[in-house]
Amino acid sequence: MSSQIEPSANSAAGVCSNDQTISFSALLETLKAQTDPPSLKQLYSWLENTSISSKDLEPYLGFKERTYWRHLVCRNEAVEMLVLCWKPGQRTVIHDHNGSIGAVLVQQGVLWETMFNFHEQKGLRYRAVAEHQPGAVTGADVPDIHQLGNPDVSEKDLVTIHVYAPPLGVLHTYKPGSAEIELYTPDDSV
Ligand SMILES: [Fe+2]
Repeated sequence: MSSQIEPSANSAAGVCSNDQTISFSALLETLKAQTDPPSLKQLYSWLENTSISSKDLEPYLGFKERTYWRHLVCRNEAVEMLVLCWKPGQRTVIHDHNGSIGAVLVQQGVLWETMFNFHEQKGLRYRAVAEHQPGAVTGADVPDIHQLGNPDVSEKDLVTIHVYAPPLGVLHTYKPGSAEIELYTPDDSV
């Protein structure tokens, strides 16, 4: 079954088209209706064309002092959505998504993303860094290796919305200058 939403399917789900703004609840219904992992282009389109208010995110907001907090919004076998809340200075480990694709929308705050290359002999090498402001969407294809975080100098909280397809399982983690790869399972328990 195609994972792309056709105009008729959009109408059935309360979504007008990929070029028009949809509501957060309409996006959730669309995600829940997916039976196959959508494309990265589709993930971008959903995040770029959905109107998301502070009230929409209220059930998924909460910060921890020691690490960023992952709040699950919805998940099935094809796709998942999470809201991540980051205090200044909080960041992920360096990781890839082990076969999943992902797109991230910055809702508030500033997101720093550092990208890496991996060579079997040379190990992990820095590639580039990017800064994403509210409204920006960034994505990770396979096998992108990256690290996300709220800059310690931002002086403000960061809220990001993540869609992964298929849902994340066990991830690979990396260390700069090292060829060692370890395993890591993200935790979205409270
Ligand atoms: Fe990631």
